[in-house]
Amino acid sequence: MSLCIVAGSANPNLAEAVAAGVGGVAMRSGLERFPDGELCPVVGPMRGDDVYVLQPTTPPVNEHLMELALLLDACRRAGSTRVTAVVPYFGYARQDRRSRPGQAIGARVVADILAAAGADRIIVVDPHTPGFEATCSIPVEVLTATSVLVTALRNRETSGSVVVAPDLGAVKLAERFAATLGLPVAVVRKSRTSGTSVRAEELVGDVVGRRPIIVDDMISTGATIEATARFLESHGALPQTVVAATHALLLEAAPERLDQLGLARLLVTDTVPPSNDLPILEVCSVAALLSDAIGRLHREEPLDDLARFE
Ligand code: R5P
Repeated sequence: MSLCIVAGSANPNLAEAVAAGVGGVAMRSGLERFPDGELCPVVGPMRGDDVYVLQPTTPPVNEHLMELALLLDACRRAGSTRVTAVVPYFGYARQDRRSRPGQAIGARVVADILAAAGADRIIVVDPHTPGFEATCSIPVEVLTATSVLVTALRNRETSGSVVVAPDLGAVKLAERFAATLGLPVAVVRKSRTSGTSVRAEELVGDVVGRRPIIVDDMISTGATIEATARFLESHGALPQTVVAATHALLLEAAPERLDQLGLARLLVTDTVPPSNDLPILEVCSVAALLSDAIGRLHREEPLDDLARFE
């Protein structure tokens, strides 16, 4: 069974890098668009292959999701033996439970769509919650970019720093970074006041005289990072905050918002195609992580040291 990487349109550069890492070339799918907005992706020959379709569901989320579902179906119909959806950034993962009556569980709906379209398995990187796997009826390989970001953080001095979780959901993530870097942890409790603003309300841990390293799974509008950085400084932390986050959506005014904070470093990965609007951005690629994982899955080898268990 040959290994085949198929690139959707959401992050072809990452797909090319991943394919190069496994010693191949990404198959670029053709993508036709009909006048009414329908998408029609087309794949090449892959009969009998072990296929990995790489498509993060980045904005425009619904377009990229639909393209992914159609690609999975196309791969199945083209005679592939096994199809894995590689979704480094999984949109809708934040909808893993109902936070008020009348809502849907979006993560479950999207996972069901991918399974129904033909995915045998899903690979994700740092999904929003550990509970993500439970929303999927097919096997999920949950990878983490922690080691990729920690390696980059270690390029510069981190002694005297404190790893900060900007909300309660990020505590486990912060603990992983802190354990690897040998640093203490602090936690900020936040409440969201709207889709684009949050309030940092309480601090647990000692940040006085320390440089914060704020870690999060994603930066969307930048509201969480802005509120946390300012809150930490008002509580005695050193300025020149460092931020490390896996998924850099950087929507709306996020680039200007982050630019104004005077951050010392802003480390993200390329699960989402990197923005050119923020000179401070340091992009750490997850291509090697994904190539390693895909190579091992293809050879039926364990992934335990790459995976995230909580
Ligand atoms: C939320 O719980 C997530 O972990 C992130 O903190 C959040 O999605 C970031 O969004 P924003 O940048 O809009 O504050």
